[in-house]
Amino acid sequence: MPATQKIREFEWRDQDYKFLSALLHEKTGIMLAEKKKEMMYGRLVRRLRLLKLNSFRDYCTYLQGPSGEKELGFALNSITTNTTSFFREKHHFDFLRKEILPPIRREIDCNPRHHVRVWSAGCSSGQEPYSIAMVMRDILGPRGTNSRILATDLDSAIIDTARAGRYDEKICREACLKDAGHTSGGQMEIRSELKNMVSFKQLNLLHDWPMTGKFDVIFCRNVMIYFDQETQDNLVRRFAGRLKAGGFLFVGHSESLLSVADIFTNIGKTTYRLSS
Ligand SMILES: C[S@@+](CC[C@H](N)C(=O)[O-])C[C@H]1O[C@@H](n2cnc3c(N)ncnc32)[C@H](O)[C@@H]1O
Repeated sequence: MPATQKIREFEWRDQDYKFLSALLHEKTGIMLAEKKKEMMYGRLVRRLRLLKLNSFRDYCTYLQGPSGEKELGFALNSITTNTTSFFREKHHFDFLRKEILPPIRREIDCNPRHHVRVWSAGCSSGQEPYSIAMVMRDILGPRGTNSRILATDLDSAIIDTARAGRYDEKICREACLKDAGHTSGGQMEIRSELKNMVSFKQLNLLHDWPMTGKFDVIFCRNVMIYFDQETQDNLVRRFAGRLKAGGFLFVGHSESLLSVADIFTNIGKTTYRLSS
């Protein structure tokens, strides 16, 4: 047995890692490199303790048994990377504020039933959709009553956190969010006015999308980076089908839509517009 395994609490064989990473890829599109083996051990070890299992071999067997489907949800919640922050990659929020929303505001002035629909796909703990809501509130004000943000994520636990909308007060102060919520006990809770603009739903982007209608803007940032190229391309083509004519797609700083340049035009840093 390799020396590293002797000090482990649970036996962790290469074939266990291969099985778990293949399952993760099949269910979520997420590709883990060999070097992520330690990370996966660290993220799943609590599940083994909780289930009182003796090894990852047993955990793999458990996932294939009658309780496997339910456990898979917990496993995926443990493995996903949820790093996010308010106004992360600020240029997208500046573009929304300066370029996208002002013409929509003028349209609403002519037709009060007009509205904007934004999708935050892979919203993690909610900082992204709440940042969008703050910009929409600033630019549209009471005109934004019919406008909505759909915020979805694969991870059901993180969706509950997002819906609760409570964040560390210090972090909110640093992000200058003083009028975004009410503070107590070291935490700031997002105002109900902003919460009401966002609908949170659990959704695996690889599955069917039950929502109807099209979006003006889709944020899918720092999600596709974990997917293989084919999954990314398929997803981006599906996003195109869910955007209104001339709609916008924002992706993360290390993501590029070069391979689907026939559908989207790059109009700025990680900012794309549906080609006509
Ligand atoms: C790093 S966070 C990005 C959060 C936010 N978009 C941002 O840029 O700050 C990635 C999120 O994508 C979600 N995710 C990963 N695979 C997914 C899938 N197949 N369907 C839906 N969400 C997924 C994860 O659960 C995680 O919350």
